[in-house]
Amino acid sequence: MIQFDEKTNVFKLDTKNLSYVIGLADGAYAGHIYFGKRLESTDLSYLLRIDEPPFVPSANLREKVAFLDSYPMEYAFGGTGDFRESCITVTTAAGQQGLDLTYVSHRIYNGKEALDGLPATWGTDSETLELTLEDIPTGIRVLLSYSIFSDSDAVMRSVKIINGGADAIYIDRVLSACLDMDNEQYEVLSLHGSWARERHMNRTPLGYGSYTMESVRGESSHQDHPFLALVSPGCTQTSGSVYAMHFIYSGNFLAKAQLCQHDTVRMVMGIHPEQFRWKLEPGECFQAPEVVCVYSDEGLGKMTRTFHDLYRNHLIRSKYKYQPRPVLVNSWEAAYFDFDTEKLLKLAKQSAELGIEMLVMDDGWFGHRNSDEGSLGDWYVNEEKLKGGLKYLVDEVNALGMKFGIWLEPEMISPDSDVYRAHPEWALQLKNRTASLCRAQYVLDLSRPEVVDYVYDCVRKTLQAANISYVKWDMNRQLTDIGSTYLPADRQGELSHRHTLAVYELQERMLQEFPDLLLENCSGGGARFDPGMLYYSPQIWCSDNTDAVERLIIQEGTQLIYPLSVIGAHVSDCPNHTVGRVTPFETRGVVALAGTFGYELDPCKISEDDRKKIPGQIADYKKYGALVREGDYYRIASYQENRLYDCYEIVSKDREEAVVFFIQVLHEPNRRSRKIYLQGLDADAVYLYDKKEYLGATLMQAGLILPRMWGDFQAQILEFKKK
Ligand code: DGJ
Repeated sequence: MIQFDEKTNVFKLDTKNLSYVIGLADGAYAGHIYFGKRLESTDLSYLLRIDEPPFVPSANLREKVAFLDSYPMEYAFGGTGDFRESCITVTTAAGQQGLDLTYVSHRIYNGKEALDGLPATWGTDSETLELTLEDIPTGIRVLLSYSIFSDSDAVMRSVKIINGGADAIYIDRVLSACLDMDNEQYEVLSLHGSWARERHMNRTPLGYGSYTMESVRGESSHQDHPFLALVSPGCTQTSGSVYAMHFIYSGNFLAKAQLCQHDTVRMVMGIHPEQFRWKLEPGECFQAPEVVCVYSDEGLGKMTRTFHDLYRNHLIRSKYKYQPRPVLVNSWEAAYFDFDTEKLLKLAKQSAELGIEMLVMDDGWFGHRNSDEGSLGDWYVNEEKLKGGLKYLVDEVNALGMKFGIWLEPEMISPDSDVYRAHPEWALQLKNRTASLCRAQYVLDLSRPEVVDYVYDCVRKTLQAANISYVKWDMNRQLTDIGSTYLPADRQGELSHRHTLAVYELQERMLQEFPDLLLENCSGGGARFDPGMLYYSPQIWCSDNTDAVERLIIQEGTQLIYPLSVIGAHVSDCPNHTVGRVTPFETRGVVALAGTFGYELDPCKISEDDRKKIPGQIADYKKYGALVREGDYYRIASYQENRLYDCYEIVSKDREEAVVFFIQVLHEPNRRSRKIYLQGLDADAVYLYDKKEYLGATLMQAGLILPRMWGDFQAQILEFKKK
């Protein structure tokens, strides 16, 4: 419910368990009052910090700067007195910056409007508060949107800028959310990584100054994730408070937590201002992407489950989100570039016999691509490799009872390609400079409408050529040389954001035309694993690192905010191609069950012992699949923290059943058997485990002693069913 109290000028948004409260100092400055556990009282204006010396501007104009620099802003603007992190910078026709945004009007309505050209949460059972602020001298208007869903403890924020003046302006910075709070000795939790090491959890006390996570790589990145949380000291999976922000966007981002002089904390998130300058003509508007703000008063676990439910119910649109995905075998680690029709059909036949349901032909099927040196952009079949063409191959695979999937990297162009030779101006490039190569490729300039049309045409022709059920949409380099031979000089700063918008547009067009397509996004592993992509694809390839042990850390960080049903996870061959580690085949299977499940190997090349285990693993995937896709996730132990073992549990929504995955990474000598404490069960119900009866409350409070395991890298699955 959203209410406005005219007497006190207070806006209050209530979900089932949380409240978000905004006030208006002087009836003008939108200020933050409260974000936290639900409050029943509506008389909250006394909490707005306008009594702090030196008073509101109307009472003490000579100290306006001191006011602006300490007031808890709902949307921070710089240049006129607030020296903390700003959310907006606009350069006017006079070449000047500095805004004074004050309240003009508001609108409270049922529902939630879509964000033009951008992914965003959706759902009818929602309400929105829209606050309009204006900078009176320039006529620049800023619309702040706050939406809530009846079934979620989250607040969705976005920002729209309207140029209400008579001259063009340049937006140099527009962040989407700002949260000003009193400091409570917070720690910052973030996700950091690198290629093959994505989304490792990182926690550190917030000191004076700023803590920053960011990407200027043109993608959400392997390195920093567009997520930031402030957590109370000692916050655990089950206790403590958490304020989290997550950005529904796939390009450059900035996320900051700033501990300021008066012991206040400002948290902001939005498009990174670097490489960003958007020209706005009079009357035009700019829509900034959405930030999801989640509060939990019951530790990280509750935050996680809020994100999981929100994304499953209000972000992912694909009809496949709750459906079992076909168990696939992907040709990448099985053959890399070295395949032809005969090899693929052999791979398909052997896989089909083992119960695998889809063959995915990865990189290397087009142009003359036999390595990563060329052909991106030449999206026609390499007939030397695929004799008989794509349709022949797909028909043969279908005849084996398997579906067929294909790899594409549509945003890229190789210098060694027919399309580049014909259109060198289509690549991103800076004037009079040779653009930097990365994996021997350039990035296409997607601000050019004819390039977007060309790319879409290639995608469409490929999908029309045969019965293709699945696309893996890859992106294997970061954006550099951000210059366009098409955009005028004063719009070059729009290029990075335009690239991201064009990717969204392309995927939207593809899904509209091929509504049955199962799309998996990917970026050199998990460099574009973000909520923006989830709006288009119900699954994203998590990491190129398929080693079972490394995956425990990568998947834990990913599971912190993403439902398991979206996490691309496959069983691969050993020694692992990225780290050289050898782990048991069973363990690799158990680790991959916490995701979409599939194979990244050639079953003809693995040992017979391992091969024989594949049907059993697929049976496990079918058995636990629905629970994993739909259930509530609880983190019981973290290998990243303890360096010995990992444990997570999924409980069905009706608490009728639960499954626990336990992986002993290192076997320590002379240790007692591990005890784990289950979570989320029905305390009063009796559960059957291993043919014995246990009370839910006992399993949660007193725990369960696990059977001892011998050796490193051992896994076990424990099943609990209500009696
Ligand atoms: C990076 C992906 O993450 C891999 O799975 C594979 O598709 C390669 N690209 C192909 O170039």
